[in-house]
Amino acid sequence: MTRHIHLASTLLFAFLVSLGSNAGAGERPLKNGAAKPDVLYHNYCSVCHGDRGDGNSRAKNSLVPPPKDFTRSPELTRDTMITIITHGKSGTAMTGWKTQLDDREIAALADYIRATFMQVSLDPKLQRGRVVYAQNCMVCHGDRGQGAPGAAGLIPARDFTTPQARAELTRERMVSAVTNGRPNTAMAAFSGRLPAADIEAVVDYVRAGLMLPATGGISGTNAHAGRKEQQGGEGMNMPFANNLTGNVAKGEKLYMANCATCHGYKGDGQGPRAYFINPKPRNFIDKNFRLAFNRPAIYTAVHDGRLGAEMPAWSKVLSEQEMTDVSEFVFRRFVQGRGESSK
Ligand code: HEC
Ligand code: HEC
Ligand code: HEC
Repeated sequence: MTRHIHLASTLLFAFLVSLGSNAGAGERPLKNGAAKPDVLYHNYCSVCHGDRGDGNSRAKNSLVPPPKDFTRSPELTRDTMITIITHGKSGTAMTGWKTQLDDREIAALADYIRATFMQVSLDPKLQRGRVVYAQNCMVCHGDRGQGAPGAAGLIPARDFTTPQARAELTRERMVSAVTNGRPNTAMAAFSGRLPAADIEAVVDYVRAGLMLPATGGISGTNAHAGRKEQQGGEGMNMPFANNLTGNVAKGEKLYMANCATCHGYKGDGQGPRAYFINPKPRNFIDKNFRLAFNRPAIYTAVHDGRLGAEMPAWSKVLSEQEMTDVSEFVFRRFVQGRGESSK
């Protein structure tokens, strides 16, 4: 019985994925039949990039530069990857694949590489949670936890990305909801279908990967804290957790050089690169952002990056002081800012 349900949800997921990747593609057959990206990777790429995507292959020692180690290339964006897989990279053994693979296959390969090899810095528990989420929860809660409208008359699946969700949903409450389900809603009990460890893993993944970060002192352990947060309560004035003070002028320079291409010069998420990116860069002058992001929350987002989105972890690039400066700038100009930055 258990296996049955699991199989059904796996099939449903596979079906949704196939729907997604074929969307708008008409009936044109794929160049490689319906080969899945893991098979394509195995057939065409692993000979150089290795079975684990780490560049460890027999070809490694004979090529200069050696094949890319995807597990250590957080800087690679999806667009760069698609361009290079399509056209190749001159001066290297990386040839273009456009005669063997079509656009959809190339995009699917880039996504496969990103999802499989480029998140290895992730805590293994979150990795597991991500898989459990994709197989069991995404159908209703959406690929980014944004929820989905329920069928007529039904309670919609929870949107995990709002400040309210962060304020209300404690880890304990979430584990309980997933284990026992929610009465009279589509949210069924997973206790018979998933081992307890998977339930905890998926909850931790949702909390770390999909929900807004907790805001400093008002970490949203109860609804009262949540209300305070919405009124822009004292939690909004929290200092940085590292005891540093940010320099706004330096932060502005860093922002214009590193962030504006995505988040926009006005912080509206409309930078020139935003067009190519999904999910879209965060809009800092949006009400939800301004309610939820105080200094420590911005700093954490800048430091850690954003799982599953093209938001780099800046700790690899900027010093602590620089991350503090740029966070201070974002906070003062966009979160607190009035007039010039609000639309
Ligand atoms: C003959 C060996 C070989 C094969 C086969 C191969 N690659 Fe590569 N790949 C390389 C080399 C070499 C590089 C360049 C590494 C560098 O510039 O540091 C590279 C780079 C890349 C890059 C990163 C480009 C960058 O900016 O660094 C991507 C993405 C990539 N390959 C994807 C693929 C995919 C997908 C396949 C299979 C369809 C594939 N490669 C097949 C050798 C290969
Ligand atoms: C068939 C659709 C469906 C699936 C599949 C589903 N959910 Fe839900 N989920 C819902 C609905 C509907 C609600 C809203 C229930 C409510 O408001 O009481 C909900 C609510 C929740 C809540 C909030 C409960 C609360 O206390 O307010 C959590 C946490 C949650 N889901 C997690 C998950 C996780 C994790 C998975 C995968 C293991 C999952 N859900 C799978 C439909 C679904
Ligand atoms: C390549 C594009 C890109 C660049 C460059 C970039 N970001 Fe982001 N940023 C994103 C995306 C995409 C998101 C995720 C939005 C989402 O999850 O809805 C994001 C999210 C954020 C968030 C909110 C985190 C959250 O949980 O939603 C903050 C704060 C942030 N970025 C700050 C910065 C700062 C500061 C810089 C410069 C140091 C920067 N970003 C550079 C794309 C970018």
